[in-house]
Amino acid sequence: MEICGNDTGFKLMAAPLQGFTEAPFRHFHAEIYGSHSDGITYYSPFVRIEKGEARKRDIRDISSKLNENHCLVPQVIAGAEDEFRMLVENVAALGFDRMDLNMGCPFVPQVRKGRGAGLLGNPGRFAEIADVIRSFPEISFSIKMRLGIERPDQWKDFCDLINTLHLRCVILHPRTAVQQYKGELHMDQLKCFCEEIHHPVVFNGEISSPDDIKRIHEGFPCLHGVMAGRGLLRRPSLFAEYISGICWDEDLMREKVIDLHRGIFNYYSSVLCGDTQLLLKMKPLWEYLGSCFPKKQVKQIVKSHTISSYIASVEKL
Ligand SMILES: Cc1cc2nc3c(=O)[nH]c(=O)nc-3n(C[C@H](O)[C@H](O)[C@H](O)COP(=O)(O)O)c2cc1C
Repeated sequence: MEICGNDTGFKLMAAPLQGFTEAPFRHFHAEIYGSHSDGITYYSPFVRIEKGEARKRDIRDISSKLNENHCLVPQVIAGAEDEFRMLVENVAALGFDRMDLNMGCPFVPQVRKGRGAGLLGNPGRFAEIADVIRSFPEISFSIKMRLGIERPDQWKDFCDLINTLHLRCVILHPRTAVQQYKGELHMDQLKCFCEEIHHPVVFNGEISSPDDIKRIHEGFPCLHGVMAGRGLLRRPSLFAEYISGICWDEDLMREKVIDLHRGIFNYYSSVLCGDTQLLLKMKPLWEYLGSCFPKKQVKQIVKSHTISSYIASVEKL
């Protein structure tokens, strides 16, 4: 069972990113940048149904011992009532009393199954899922969603239904699914959303500096908190800097990113079989973690084909 820290004030949440923010990242991020006492909440990448059961790899991620040092909210993705119920039962059986429903994933294979952002186009299906939410009053649910599939005002189709539920919060990425992760953030819709949705609203989108958090908090006092994804991977000290009110210098940022990488690398070295798997897992991280290092050096890491050249390139940092 997860223990969550400070439950008051403006909430800071670490977004889920499949392939990046699994248990090792969350664990070492919390260890190095502090999480528990600061009340940061980490959301897991979505747990899904595969071959008629909750995917084992996803269940391993949320039940890993590495989760003991941070507050974790498992996220589930489902396109139908039966899938959703099975996931909730599986996750609850691990002792979690908080859960998040993904209604924003724009990835086509998921959307085609009616999952993630697919639910935004199907209020009937969502109504069935809402009934399942109601049937677990002991679980504190949140919803992470987009504005719509194509229309930025599509959320209005099920706003009333969302308002009938008991939710801890609704996390909004104010883009449509067709926009994927780029393009205009519809801040006019965010304003409307805050007015119409009766639950605490959390903003998610392109937060990359402590000033961005401050700006969004001041511009939208109605918000309950913010969730950062890619911005937190590029600048893992983002929340620590915001909380302390002190911006870190580049040397400190680099030192801590190296520590974070070391933790993750050593963990995966001990559990993955073979160099190829290890490289496949580690290299993509540099797309983000590399932001505070010279581009040329990061390129060298990403181009390495063997573990020895990978380690040598990282050591040069
Ligand atoms: C590679 C990748 C994987 C993602 N995986 C998930 C996921 O499992 N669940 C989810 O709700 N959102 C997922 N997202 C979306 C992020 O959580 C977040 O909503 C999005 O990146 C926008 O926030 P940002 O601008 O702070 O990154 C993913 C995004 C990316 C780029």
